[in-house]
Amino acid sequence: MATTAKADTSKKTASKTPAPRRTRRTNRRDPLAISLLKKDHREVDAMFDEYEQLEKDAEKLALFNKIALALKVHTQIEEEIFYPEERGDVEDDLMDEAYVEHDGAKKLIAEIEAMKPSDEFYDAKVKVLGEYVKHHVKEEEQPGGMFSQAKKGDEDLEAMGERMKARKEELMAQMKPAKAN
Ligand SMILES: [Fe+2]
Ligand SMILES: [Fe+2]
Repeated sequence: MATTAKADTSKKTASKTPAPRRTRRTNRRDPLAISLLKKDHREVDAMFDEYEQLEKDAEKLALFNKIALALKVHTQIEEEIFYPEERGDVEDDLMDEAYVEHDGAKKLIAEIEAMKPSDEFYDAKVKVLGEYVKHHVKEEEQPGGMFSQAKKGDEDLEAMGERMKARKEELMAQMKPAKAN
């Protein structure tokens, strides 16, 4: 009853070198200062997308107020902490443009805040603000952009991130009730 045992010649040769371990380089976590700012970027981006779906004025107003608050707090922590401390690690031109872009966004936010959702151009202004912010975020996040230059610099981005996080909480608390009284 000998089964037709096939001669197993294909014995695996144990490879002596183990599979290369995934290097940390391929998936390195961003330091806290950067991951915090990127998270803000994603959140505000999602809110602009959500705005597009809205039809009721009351909902538009409520969401725009959230967008405005998020942008104000974000730009302020960048301008108080991240930008000045990264001055020197980041090219001057890039840094100067970032401040000018923040100012442009703030003006547009103020214009929208002075309007009602039923006004002509309200939606258009919110849309343009979203595009404006998207452009600015790209300048910060793209390869060779501000964040990548900052990561190559000397600052301790973990410690800076802790300070930014604390300041963000403070600003959120300060700015939120002012709107909702
Ligand atoms: Fe910025
Ligand atoms: Fe930013």
